[in-house]
Amino acid sequence: MARLLENAGVDTVVVEARSRAYCEARIRAGVLEQGTVDLLRDAGVGARLDREGIVHHGISLQFDGERHRIPLSDLADGRTIVIYGQTEIVKDLISAREASGLPLLFDTPVETIDLERGLVRHAGGEIACDMIAGCDGFHGACREAVPTGALREFTREYPYGWLGILADVAPSIDELVYAHTERGFALLSLRSPTRSRYYLQVDHDEDVGRWPDDRVWEELRRRTAVAGWTLQEGPVLEKGVTGMRSYVCEPLRHGKLFLAGDAAHIVPPTGAKGLNLAIHDVRLLAEALVRYYESGDQALLDAYSDACLRRVWRCEHFSWWMTTMLHLPPESDPFGLRLQRSQLRYVTTSRAQAAALAENYVGLATV
Ligand code: PHB
Repeated sequence: MARLLENAGVDTVVVEARSRAYCEARIRAGVLEQGTVDLLRDAGVGARLDREGIVHHGISLQFDGERHRIPLSDLADGRTIVIYGQTEIVKDLISAREASGLPLLFDTPVETIDLERGLVRHAGGEIACDMIAGCDGFHGACREAVPTGALREFTREYPYGWLGILADVAPSIDELVYAHTERGFALLSLRSPTRSRYYLQVDHDEDVGRWPDDRVWEELRRRTAVAGWTLQEGPVLEKGVTGMRSYVCEPLRHGKLFLAGDAAHIVPPTGAKGLNLAIHDVRLLAEALVRYYESGDQALLDAYSDACLRRVWRCEHFSWWMTTMLHLPPESDPFGLRLQRSQLRYVTTSRAQAAALAENYVGLATV
């Protein structure tokens, strides 16, 4: 957000509750839509992404012990996805900000926000703002500052979570594999030619202590097994459990405050949409703010919330659909299991269904 405004000559102060080390170490998502890559490139922070990002043209869905490739690019006008960690994007943005010499306050939790006057108070003082971009995540201070009653909230909780590992071993797959099994969901992903990122469906409040490395590998092997293929194991560098939820609040604008990204909405990770959606929000918000500062025209600021929410709800639906199609509900449900298998077979055999998945996965050009 700040980078886009910097490029248009708008002054910003970035206030970050956490330390730089925390921001640069936290492992997050890793699949970028074409539009996200284009925006980072245009913003002048795409050099390392262009060098190290890995372009993918497809993904696979696995069920009944077989993998079925969805040729994303063939089905979605040649568009691709790029594998590059969100953590790497954060590092690139921090160094760009540092190089520009612009204010970036780490370890600075926001205490209160006065929405009427645009005053942001933090431990070290107070900032008088024309406008506030609330890009501080689901647990941030910005949405908290909106009076109850002014927000409408929509939530769906899922009865499962993901246990994720980052392993120091070359990925055993060329493209992502989303696997549906009677033992639960598994996902094979990657971060680089030497780093694998793998996930298992677990209980939503699962204790990671119950998952020593051997158990993780054993379960990954069982859930992703297909004839003639082996999963290569390696040292586990990081391991954690994340719960899954869908959440949207409306509207996204409250006076001088504009919510963006996870501060306004959460998707379960199965569609790889969270980061891409956040980037879409800030693209619209930056355009609206730049228009306002250039000409005094507030039309785009007024339209921001509705314009964002159209894409937000499309991605909410896609992420919910991918999640419920691929995960095993905790209660045994033979009818539901057969519906899932039928849907997976349909998606992997009908060109129309596969194209619908593909265009959502690579990112819809317009919503
Ligand atoms: C990841 O690599 O972290 C990843 C990939 C695809 C997803 C979610 C996470 O759907």
